[in-house]
Amino acid sequence: TRGSIPRSPAFDDTLAFVRSGYLYGTRRFRTLGADAFEARLGGRKAVVVHGREAASVFYEGDRFSRERAMPTSVQHLLQDEGSVQALEGLAHHHRKSMFMRMLDEPHVLRLVDEFDLQWARVRAEHAGHTVPLYDLGNLVLTRAALAWAGVPAGTVDDRELAGRLAAMVDAAATIGAPNWIARSRRRRAEAWAAALVADVRAGTVEAGEHTAIRMIADGSDHHGAPLPEEVAAVEVLNVLRPIVAVSRFLVFAVHALHTHPAWEPVLAEDAAAATRFANEVRRFYPFFPVIAGTARRDFDWHGRNFEPGERVILDLYATNHDPRNWAEPRRFLPERFERWDGDPNTLVPQGGGDAATGHRCPGEAATIALTARFARLAASRPFEVPEQDLRISLRHIPALPMDRMRVTMRA
Ligand code: HEM
Repeated sequence: TRGSIPRSPAFDDTLAFVRSGYLYGTRRFRTLGADAFEARLGGRKAVVVHGREAASVFYEGDRFSRERAMPTSVQHLLQDEGSVQALEGLAHHHRKSMFMRMLDEPHVLRLVDEFDLQWARVRAEHAGHTVPLYDLGNLVLTRAALAWAGVPAGTVDDRELAGRLAAMVDAAATIGAPNWIARSRRRRAEAWAAALVADVRAGTVEAGEHTAIRMIADGSDHHGAPLPEEVAAVEVLNVLRPIVAVSRFLVFAVHALHTHPAWEPVLAEDAAAATRFANEVRRFYPFFPVIAGTARRDFDWHGRNFEPGERVILDLYATNHDPRNWAEPRRFLPERFERWDGDPNTLVPQGGGDAATGHRCPGEAATIALTARFARLAASRPFEVPEQDLRISLRHIPALPMDRMRVTMRA
């Protein structure tokens, strides 16, 4: 061990990670009494870190790239060669600004409007039926994302695309067969997106001026050259897929409402309370467990020198439940956000630091707005929640209630 960072007691932690899931880091931090430790994971060394200060070191100051940081099985589903997440420095900054513009406030408001329309439609289509809310959410969000992004209606089978996009996230932490199936589905989604970009560029498909599809098709790199078609296609999926992934938070919002029904009348009355509720959903429930990065340059932290190429894993789940920043972290308490200071490195379900300059998620405002909007819709009881298994296993990544939050839609 170099410096003051302890080593995990196990020779290799891969199995411990698989067994403990979201709680892997939390358990080690507790037994070692440290906010960082060294471990072998997936046959490679890593320093696992958590907390406000660790998040700031990880996300601020351009210290880390995502190069060779995640296993390729994860990489090929959630990011890809040439995409914004794979870029650094000027190239990253330029590409990221396209995402920031695409997801600014007016665009978010439009996305929420599309979501409202599509929710009303899906509600009517499923009246009287009992269905997993997770699947409904995927469909509503896919339709909303397509309309919002400027994809002309009727040019794609939205149910099939919803399945493909959701599968990319659901299978990201799997290895072997499920991963390969999701990867092949991803390739088909990419081929569809590439054809769409080509059509928009050729003018055979009309995409409105400020739509995401138009912005990506017209996008250029930091030297002014147009984005290659396959890169543009990857970025199309990079906005559609994570919008659909918000379905998980919709499910968790209903789980939270169902288990804390006192919030129902509050949300119906108060939009600001719904935003606090959405933030507590993002803090409390498990989604991305960790983010891995590779050091780009030398730096010191915790009395230890980090060398270029070293792998650091930031535990997002442990940071969101860190008792140093969150009182009673294992309780669902939206009111905690009435007094929150807005520190960018304590609430990190979508990364830390600054979205415009680092790798923090550009879709956070969209995620909060959609989740808050849906929490309010759900508070007006458009469905019943039948008897079911509501447990959420922290060993399964990504997590979901056992029965995918089944709801019976009112007629
Ligand atoms: C980055 C989580 C929604 C687009 C990230 C990162 C996290 C994250 C943890 C940081 C990755 C890193 O540090 O390498 C989530 C979660 C979401 C969500 C939990 C909830 C569903 C969205 C939405 C969009 C989006 C709605 C866009 C419509 C992106 C993009 C990046 C990113 C493009 C890469 C940014 C970069 O590398 O600079 N997301 N996200 N995400 N997210 Fe999200």
